[in-house]
Amino acid sequence: MINGNLKLAVQKSGRLTEKSMQLLRTCGLDIENYSDRLIVSARNFDLDLLFLRDDDIPEYVQDGVADIGIVGENVAVEKEADVEIIKKLGYGKCRLVIAVPEEKNIMNLDELNGKRIATSYPKILSNFFGNNKIDAKIIQINGSVEIAPSLGIADYICDIVSTGNTLKLNKLKKFTNVFDSEAVLICNKNIEQDSEKFMKLKNLIARIESALNARTSKYLMMNIPKTALAQIREILPALKSPTILPLADETMLAVHAVIPSDMFWQIQDDLHEAGASGLLLIPIENMIL
Ligand code: PRP
Ligand code: ZN
Repeated sequence: MINGNLKLAVQKSGRLTEKSMQLLRTCGLDIENYSDRLIVSARNFDLDLLFLRDDDIPEYVQDGVADIGIVGENVAVEKEADVEIIKKLGYGKCRLVIAVPEEKNIMNLDELNGKRIATSYPKILSNFFGNNKIDAKIIQINGSVEIAPSLGIADYICDIVSTGNTLKLNKLKKFTNVFDSEAVLICNKNIEQDSEKFMKLKNLIARIESALNARTSKYLMMNIPKTALAQIREILPALKSPTILPLADETMLAVHAVIPSDMFWQIQDDLHEAGASGLLLIPIENMIL
């Protein structure tokens, strides 16, 4: 494996795996099916993918076993590895929360004093307690934290919530947020010393940025009466001037514009009222600014 390829660690199987692979494919990387191999190489980029347990990724990146990794910010911060977080990736969003049994009515943080809290995130939790001057006992558990209260080994828990299903199933409810997390790209601190690898990393980051920009934008196409042009231009975001094209029907124009994805539903009524028709909203795969 000493081939000069950039080595990227991703979660072997878990919440981030599928979306990480999707992101890499959107970046134009041709990666074969990863189902049961520990390492696969991209066919069209000097990159090897290492599939690892997410908890191990920060340390492997710190030690240079992998040059970069995709991991939840929660894991990156908890492991206190000496790595650089270079980019938030906008997916895998979740929260580390303190949760209590459904029937408990607790209102204030100081009600946590003297309680036993089970978690797999002892460092983040102890920072939180330190910042909030709470004196509680942290019980470190490595999996299935949510069952600790019913087993009687802890009063409350501090764990990751994404959909909230796990809490509900275990008759727990959120009390307070401790840490907001999403997938991040982390990097070995010495990568700049290998100039070839560093170039590859810069290329990959540029591709990731273009994929992330594209994710939040859409391409809008519509036909409008010529007379409505001024009004339509007022409705469209002023980011960039739209493309305006003639149509066979000389009283009409075609208007194309890149808009923020979430804006479409806010402006579509106004566009219709102004006379726009045949609205098409198209996803953008990559966008280089
Ligand atoms: C977390 C947490 C819960 C689950 C919550 O595990 O420990 O089990 O996700 O998700 P939900 O709110 O959608 O039910 P995680 O995916 O981080 O797995 P890991 O700790 O095994 O890596
Ligand atoms: Zn894990």
